[in-house]
Amino acid sequence: MAYLNFTDKTVVVVGGTSGINRGIAEAFAAHGARVAVASRKQEKVDDTVAALKSLGADAMGFVADVRDTEAVDRGLASVQERFGAFDVVVSGAAGNFPSLAADLSSNGFRSVMEIDLLGTFHVMSACFSRLRKPGASIINISAPQAFMPSKAQIHVSAAKAGVDMITRTLALEWGRDGVRVNSVVPGPIDGTEGMARLAPTPEIRAMTVKGVPLGRMGTPADVANACLFLASDLASYVTGAVIPVDGGWTQNGCGGMSEFLGGMMEKAKKRG
Ligand code: NAP
Ligand code: COA
Repeated sequence: MAYLNFTDKTVVVVGGTSGINRGIAEAFAAHGARVAVASRKQEKVDDTVAALKSLGADAMGFVADVRDTEAVDRGLASVQERFGAFDVVVSGAAGNFPSLAADLSSNGFRSVMEIDLLGTFHVMSACFSRLRKPGASIINISAPQAFMPSKAQIHVSAAKAGVDMITRTLALEWGRDGVRVNSVVPGPIDGTEGMARLAPTPEIRAMTVKGVPLGRMGTPADVANACLFLASDLASYVTGAVIPVDGGWTQNGCGGMSEFLGGMMEKAKKRG
């Protein structure tokens, strides 16, 4: 366990106030880190900071919309001031809703591109000068749609494919600074906002589980465990990697998720 001890390490989780990313923040807190979280809503930030403290961690948070580069920069400056240089940055703020391409407005497409892709760029650019060098580890949270196209997910696919190219480009640019940059790609994770939006009925949920080779949905802890590994010395030679944590789901074409989602949206359209 020595490698997974994050005592005296500063971990920042942007978008860390619910679901998978909150699970990641809690895992680092449970392994001794100082943890900062950020998102748009003050009450979610406060609730998460309280939970991290109850795990024994020194914790703080700030409110920022990742689309606002100045708010991100200000928030990260406040973390640096209190916790020092960043050892680990997890960037996972995202938005998703199903919409067939022909029904998606320019603003709907832009909204997801700006949260997922531009937001990731904002976090990367604002954190660079604040990273511990050498030694820092950056983890971007991607999605299977980045490399597995799906009906009703054109905006998410485009945005997350871009996120993975940010990961791979920064692995090149920041390697000589001793900064590693990787993506983690969660599969269907139980009890999350993402699954509530993409698998909203018991039928779609059951079909999703059926398509996962390991026969179950994942948990936030499954994703957090991969992040602990990537942030640790065990992964000291891993950079530029895009790592699925998905029970084999993407190897199985996401179990036909594209057809469920496409069908669900066509039906919704017919209902008006
Ligand atoms: P979630 O609970 O909705 O988490 C999203 C987080 O980002 C929240 O903390 C949210 O808090 C924050 N956020 C949203 N928009 C933001 C913005 N504009 N600026 C700053 N923060 C913002 O969703 P989740 O389902 O756990 O997903 C977490 C991550 O995993 C996402 O990157 C998602 O793409 C990825 N993922 C999820 C699944 C899944 O099965 N759920 C599968 C593959 C990939 P506020 O509302 O307070 O802003
Ligand atoms: N179907 C089609 N278009 C939609 C939509 C849906 N379900 N939900 C939002 N949009 C469109 C809106 O109509 C709007 O476009 P318009 O101005 O042309 O009408 C555009 O997207 C922006 O919507 P808005 O509600 O103003 O965006 P926002 O910035 O307040 O919120 C979202 C961003 C839409 C991504 C919102 O769902 C969100 O905050 N999500 C965060 C949580 C989340 O998605 N978690 C899962 C992560 S996997």
